[in-house]
Amino acid sequence: MTFRTLDDLPADLAGKRVLVRVDLNVPMAGHEVTDDTRLKATRPTIEELARRGARVLLLSHFGRPKGRDPQATLAHVVPALATVLGRPVGFLADCAGKDMEAETRALADGSVTVLENTRFHPGEEANDPGFAAALARLGDLYVNDAFSAAHRAHASTEGLARLLPAYAGRQMEAELRALSAVLKSPRRPVAAIVGGAKVSTKIAVLSHLVENVDHLVIGGAMANSFLAAKGMAIGRSLHEPDQLETACGIMAAAARAGCTVHLPYDVVVAREFRAHADHRIVSVHHVEPDEMIVDLGPHAVEALADLMKTCATLVWNGPLGAFELPPFDTATLALARLVAALTGEGHLISVAGGGDTVAALNKAGVADQFSFVSTAGGAFLEWMEGRTLPGVAALEQESVA
Ligand code: 3PG
Repeated sequence: MTFRTLDDLPADLAGKRVLVRVDLNVPMAGHEVTDDTRLKATRPTIEELARRGARVLLLSHFGRPKGRDPQATLAHVVPALATVLGRPVGFLADCAGKDMEAETRALADGSVTVLENTRFHPGEEANDPGFAAALARLGDLYVNDAFSAAHRAHASTEGLARLLPAYAGRQMEAELRALSAVLKSPRRPVAAIVGGAKVSTKIAVLSHLVENVDHLVIGGAMANSFLAAKGMAIGRSLHEPDQLETACGIMAAAARAGCTVHLPYDVVVAREFRAHADHRIVSVHHVEPDEMIVDLGPHAVEALADLMKTCATLVWNGPLGAFELPPFDTATLALARLVAALTGEGHLISVAGGGDTVAALNKAGVADQFSFVSTAGGAFLEWMEGRTLPGVAALEQESVA
């Protein structure tokens, strides 16, 4: 992988306006940021550029506004970002135009400024060359630090990289190195855990993984579709009846590729889908018609623990059970803690990504004990599908040009 990083920039960036594409698309309740993980991820790049004298100009989208929607202003994120950075952060009311050009030229060296939501301009999502050129007029250099938005071929993630000298920021660099370490040239055996509700949204991920990993663990409601595809009675469990053939196809592809698919032997079943509903542990062969599978059983967890001890690399996306409804988070939390321990002992390289997965690791209190936790949701999945992310490709092309 060839891309330029901050190490390739001159040490002294005084007088340079550096446009940094970050992902400030953070969860909010009213005007309060409820999870600042992505803000913290921007810190190394911003601090380094500011320390080197750059005028740091932060570009980001927020939400999916249709036009200039005041609810989607990035002004609401600025106080939380200033707290995370421990320094003042300015705000400009637009990200393109003559006035903004003048404003960016008047900024002090070492300052940090957020520009208004790029998606207020239709040219952003259309990757309009005219809009990309307008963005480019605000900067001298471009740094992309938003891996989590790199699956979008938008003006601020892709077009701009072709107009200014382009570099990967520290978070982008860390994501790309960690992700290629687990699927491009991993230490084997490699296991993947893929959970979540729907086979239909993860067909491409599963199909790519069976060709690349030694063990594929299927969890979440998706496992129910696989169990049904194997002819098991799964009662009222959440599943996709129209995806049973797909599930069979994935199992056949895995067998051809020498990848072992792991499905649970025992499960936790309940008659209601709510926290603390009455439940029991049964073999997958004994689910009653009015019962729903809501988590993996203890034998399945033990088997996965044994499997993890034999693996050298793990990539994890999606919880194993209905983790938002305690106690049906038991299997996910237990396995997360075991993976964290194996990682700490140096036995396992563990990489996780996706909003629910990261929430589960936080709930288990082990997010910082994994080798790497991606800040990305959709981009992480597209990467697991083996797709080229336009924002990454633009950095690579630029670096060899
Ligand atoms: C995300 O939250 O996954 C990224 O910020 C991308 O957002 P989008 O799906 O609205 O492009």
